[in-house]
Amino acid sequence: MLTQSVNVMKSTSYILGIESSCDDTAAAVLRNDEVLSNCIANQKIHQSYGGIVPELASRAHQANIVPVVQQALSIANIDKKELTAIAYTRGPGLLGSLLVGSAFAKSMALGLNIPLIEVNHMQAHLLCHFIKNNDQPPPTFPFLGVTVSGGHTQLVKVESPFEMKEIGRTRDDAIGEAFDKCGKIMGLNYPAGPEIDRLAQDGNPNAFSFPIPKVDDLDVSYSGLKTAFINLINNNSRKNHNFIEENLKDLCASIQKTLVTVILEKITKAQEKYKLKRVVVGGGVAANSEIRKVLHLKAQEENWEVFLPPFQYTTDNAAMIGIVGYQKLLNHRLGDMNQSVSAKLPL
Ligand code: KG4
Ligand code: ZN
Repeated sequence: MLTQSVNVMKSTSYILGIESSCDDTAAAVLRNDEVLSNCIANQKIHQSYGGIVPELASRAHQANIVPVVQQALSIANIDKKELTAIAYTRGPGLLGSLLVGSAFAKSMALGLNIPLIEVNHMQAHLLCHFIKNNDQPPPTFPFLGVTVSGGHTQLVKVESPFEMKEIGRTRDDAIGEAFDKCGKIMGLNYPAGPEIDRLAQDGNPNAFSFPIPKVDDLDVSYSGLKTAFINLINNNSRKNHNFIEENLKDLCASIQKTLVTVILEKITKAQEKYKLKRVVVGGGVAANSEIRKVLHLKAQEENWEVFLPPFQYTTDNAAMIGIVGYQKLLNHRLGDMNQSVSAKLPL
């Protein structure tokens, strides 16, 4: 086994983070817990397909990875020879996409003779709160982690940076996926979440109502809600061809409110069950204005401490990979050149 060692007594570490789990090729440079650069190449190619095409995603990662890493180093004003370690996303994610990032990270670490660090993408979404931020100190442990993204919806009991236990999850679609699929039926571009959020600002959230799915314990389900939304659109569009156009803002506001209510109910239930007063949110849907609003309200009403990431660390990014890399470096949790990527890597 090719494990590596490093002198982490050096006071300053420069970490290159690489993220390629889905459709964003991202690279970031951190000096300890401080982000010096955070670069992302979004793949526009998937928009015309209304969702991610895995084969196209890995090809685009291959084209993007070298320029994105070069850009991250250049913005950080760091020569690659100054890097202390390279952290990369080992999973979960699309296999072909993960392989591009991992092959690149391994070759670069080998070429520079520096340690390689494996990062779990889901841990990184929560640990992005440990990136140096002058506006908000990091959360203290333990806390309730809530990961709301395009691929996952998870409630997590977090005891320490590396002790995370899933206590609830979606049984079918992720919340971001539900936003995207509801947006698709309304003719919005992929990913539709940000556009639904924007349109909902001027809509009536009570114009349409949808049944809240009943799921045991702390699990959630979004596929029934998505089907109810699609049925509402189809039934009304048969009677009025302009139904979507005439009701777009109200439809967006109503479905957004319902999607957020589903997860908020489970966050409240998890709080009661585990007596965790700190809620730490991560993932693309953490950018959503409704989820931010209701959590801030809950913080005031229930005396919760709520942590929402700065917008640049909500959707997939490499700074969150870099911060986990830094924490692992400090804890001597170095990676293994022989370790393969894992599409379903558990927490
Ligand atoms: O974390 P992320 O970049 O990728 C995954 O790991 O899945 O999350 C992407 C998801 C997409 O489904 C996108 O529609 C959603 O985050 N999203 C939003 C907003 N911004 C991004 N959903 C609702 N409101 C937003 N403002
Ligand atoms: Zn993600």
